[in-house]
Amino acid sequence: MSRQPPTSSTARSRTGASAKSARRPGAGAWVPPVQDLADLTAAARACQGCELFAEATQTVFGSGPSPARLMLVGEQPGDREDRAGIPFVGPAGGVLDRALSAARLDRSQLYLTNAVKHFRHADRGKRRLHRTPSAGQINACRPWLEAELARVRPELVVLLGATAGRAIYGPEFRIGPVRGVLQPAPDRFPTAHVLVTVHPSAVLRAEDTEAAFAGLVADLEVAAKALG
Ligand code: URA
Ligand code: SF4
Repeated sequence: MSRQPPTSSTARSRTGASAKSARRPGAGAWVPPVQDLADLTAAARACQGCELFAEATQTVFGSGPSPARLMLVGEQPGDREDRAGIPFVGPAGGVLDRALSAARLDRSQLYLTNAVKHFRHADRGKRRLHRTPSAGQINACRPWLEAELARVRPELVVLLGATAGRAIYGPEFRIGPVRGVLQPAPDRFPTAHVLVTVHPSAVLRAEDTEAAFAGLVADLEVAAKALG
């Protein structure tokens, strides 16, 4: 796919400021003005708003109905999602599916997306190891998340882990104090409430997997209850 030159003034002024910002103009220039979800999804395939597009297989955009009452935001696609082009189809997706059904939430009714739409990784032989997206990459990709929020207009947004939290609240965000408690959404987001919980992959890494899973389910039950 040919490179679409950034057109917004922000993108223009940032381009050329340094080698790094030239590679990271931000997704804004690729977000189409007409924000039909199908148009957004199609346009995101061409995004070169940061350097992550170059080493990933494809853009993994959000998926699910629109509008949707509930939107879940993860971190970024993993190895399996990168190959499939669909969010949460790998091991973390398995945990999420089990937690959603334990909390009686129907995955087919919610919109599921990630803060960053390309897989950041390091190559180690044949393996591709996950790397946490940087603040600059989260920032570059935010226009897609904002466009999804504007289109899907969820009543509740569940942030799965710190990266999703940083995408909404900024780089200083920490999960601890707000976990599992309904928060009013920040002004610029067209949604009623936000709920923060851990990322499903944290359940896989936890020493006590059962307790960690129960904690994720308890938070998702708060979400289910809020939606009535
Ligand atoms: N982890 C995420 O945050 N998102 C995915 O889609 C898969 C794993
Ligand atoms: Fe664009 Fe986001 Fe992919 Fe970067 S990670 S190229 S901003 S879609």
